[in-house]
Amino acid sequence: MEVLIQSSTAAAVELVAEIIAREVQANPRPVLGLATGRTMESVYARLVEMHRAERLDFSGCRTFNLDEYAGLPGADQHSYRHYMNRLFFHQVNIELRNTHLPHGDAPDLAAECERYERLIQEAGGIDLQLLGIGQSGHIGFNEPPSEANSRTRLVTLAPETIRQNAPLFGADKMPSQAITLGVGTILASQKCLLLATGESKAGIVSRAIEGPVTTAVPASALQLHPHCTVVLDEAAAGALTGAPRKRFD
Ligand code: F6R
Repeated sequence: MEVLIQSSTAAAVELVAEIIAREVQANPRPVLGLATGRTMESVYARLVEMHRAERLDFSGCRTFNLDEYAGLPGADQHSYRHYMNRLFFHQVNIELRNTHLPHGDAPDLAAECERYERLIQEAGGIDLQLLGIGQSGHIGFNEPPSEANSRTRLVTLAPETIRQNAPLFGADKMPSQAITLGVGTILASQKCLLLATGESKAGIVSRAIEGPVTTAVPASALQLHPHCTVVLDEAAAGALTGAPRKRFD
């Protein structure tokens, strides 16, 4: 695991956007695994800028998002499909039919999980998987305890996750379940790229990257991945103790 610490949030976001841009430029048909959440909003904003100013070309990309709330149709303003269309897909030259998220409103959610997992395999697997980390230690919505070999499935969200995300739903009720790629599905990606920023993530980041690999901190499974890069700002790196801290700016 490579840990890159940047002196500001903007520099951390810039580095993550550059790593994604490099993958898109190097590979004519890249398969990107994408994440949502507040941390990623500025990553997508930067990629949109790169598309507009530097003609970064997304036309060959296929994408698979990590997760979607159970029960929400893609048209719902709180769905992750809506987030992705608004912040990224509608702003760049990606073909919408090549963008995939689990269907949160599928009539049979277990069958939907199997379909989504199969679709990723049929695409040849994920080349670069973008990840955030939740206060509960989740990646995607793999809440503790999540096994390192878990696959795409329906999960119940942890109380911390509900606390973290409920304000985004305003007066509407946040779903208590979601479909998520499994930890094993994430670990099967060629490369993983985790971005965490802000002091509120410092404790869980240190448990994930310096603590033992445990189902109690699902993100700790990334220590098992052969090509995982973690990009942090100073604040998110604030609780790291022993491990060498690589600084890149
Ligand atoms: C969402 C996802 C989650 C978020 C995590 C951090 O697709 O994969 O694991 O990355 O909950 O969310 P923020 O960035 O809002 O703190």
